[in-house]
Amino acid sequence: MANLFRLILIAAITTSTLVACQIWVNSEAPKTPIEIKPLPSVPNIDPKNSDPERTPDAPYLQTPERVVIKMLEMAKVNSQDVVYDLGSGDGRIVIAAAQNFGAKAIGIEIDPELIRESERATKAAIDKTPQIRSQIKFVKQDLFKTDLRDATVITLYLLPQANLRVRAEILPKLKSGTRIVSYQYSLGDLSATRTEKVKIGDQEHMIYLWILD
Ligand SMILES: C[S@@+](CC[C@H](N)C(=O)[O-])C[C@H]1O[C@@H](n2cnc3c(N)ncnc32)[C@H](O)[C@@H]1O
Repeated sequence: MANLFRLILIAAITTSTLVACQIWVNSEAPKTPIEIKPLPSVPNIDPKNSDPERTPDAPYLQTPERVVIKMLEMAKVNSQDVVYDLGSGDGRIVIAAAQNFGAKAIGIEIDPELIRESERATKAAIDKTPQIRSQIKFVKQDLFKTDLRDATVITLYLLPQANLRVRAEILPKLKSGTRIVSYQYSLGDLSATRTEKVKIGDQEHMIYLWILD
């Protein structure tokens, strides 16, 4: 009993000594003021343009009008089709697919200025052919992040490297029977269902068509 009493006494003395030391240390500690750094300024972000900037996978170039028509003819585009132009530039393929072939057509383009240009061109096309108003859409988006489940036709005018990525990442997700038409570049060594050359002046323009199994 006496031992227990001694133990409790030692514990009480040790605790009170430690508490006293702590109070003394704190009262002696120099009072360094907390430095308040200003937060970095965040620019106002317009939600419409808030996609992260990213280098396009191909530069902006236009498919010649005659080649556009030939591409859509080769794919036998009709009013039952949903055509996606991946990297739609000024919207010419999308507008032609709706205006000349009666398809529903969607342009996917990463450059917001080209989306605005496409919308201007669409307004002009609607003035001539009002019924296409509900058939055309442009989306500012990375083509590699686009949901293409409803696509029946895909048109491409990219670069060889980007086409290889399309082959590896997009083709496996497409429905059987989907037609892919590419201006200028193949899909690596994937054997084309058909190829055509369009001669304009002294230049030959190559078009490739694949129909997916
Ligand atoms: C050679 S142009 C073709 C334009 C149009 N399809 C035509 O045939 O006239 C390629 C287009 O793809 C766009 N592009 C490149 N990388 C892209 C990406 N990852 N997602 C969406 N658009 C992209 C470019 O901004 C450019 O407008």
